[in-house]
Amino acid sequence: MGKTIAIYPGSFDPVTRGHMDIIERASKTVDHLIVGVLVNSAKSPLFTVEERVALLKQVTAQYPNVEIRSFEGLLVDFARASGAHILIRGLRAVTDFEYELQMSQTNQKLDPNIETMFLTTSIEYSYLSSTTVREIAAFGGDLTQFVPEAVALELEKKMNTKGECNK
Ligand code: PNS
Repeated sequence: MGKTIAIYPGSFDPVTRGHMDIIERASKTVDHLIVGVLVNSAKSPLFTVEERVALLKQVTAQYPNVEIRSFEGLLVDFARASGAHILIRGLRAVTDFEYELQMSQTNQKLDPNIETMFLTTSIEYSYLSSTTVREIAAFGGDLTQFVPEAVALELEKKMNTKGECNK
């Protein structure tokens, strides 16, 4: 049997403790896990793709089978080019379900050889999202329970350097 390669795709703007939980658990179930960071200029992310990749590399350095890469275009094309047959997504609450179902069924139509597998987020992170993390950071709240230490530091720096009208 060949190596099981999976992709955990997302925006990771920024990576949260909820993402870290999925990365850790997924990395134990596959031989090689590629965290795919979407280059998405339309969403005007807080962190550039280079920053998001660098942060992910830093906070996943302890996992030898985890690799961080950015991608553009269709996820199934990135998966094929990476030799991956599995896409991993985290499911928090029922509110995630409709979007995730649509995405996985679309990807299945685009490439029936690629399967989406869902991990349910650990209960302590089920409320957490990058959007709320950015909001807490914007208002100077304590971030340590939501994101890894390195990410909290970068968020604080980012908020300090951002102009008032740039929010
Ligand atoms: O962290 P996110 O923003 O929920 O991740 C969404 C992501 C990156 C998985 C999704 O937007 C994506 O796969 N984009 C690539 C474009 C694509 O393949 N679209 C077709 C499937 S819906």
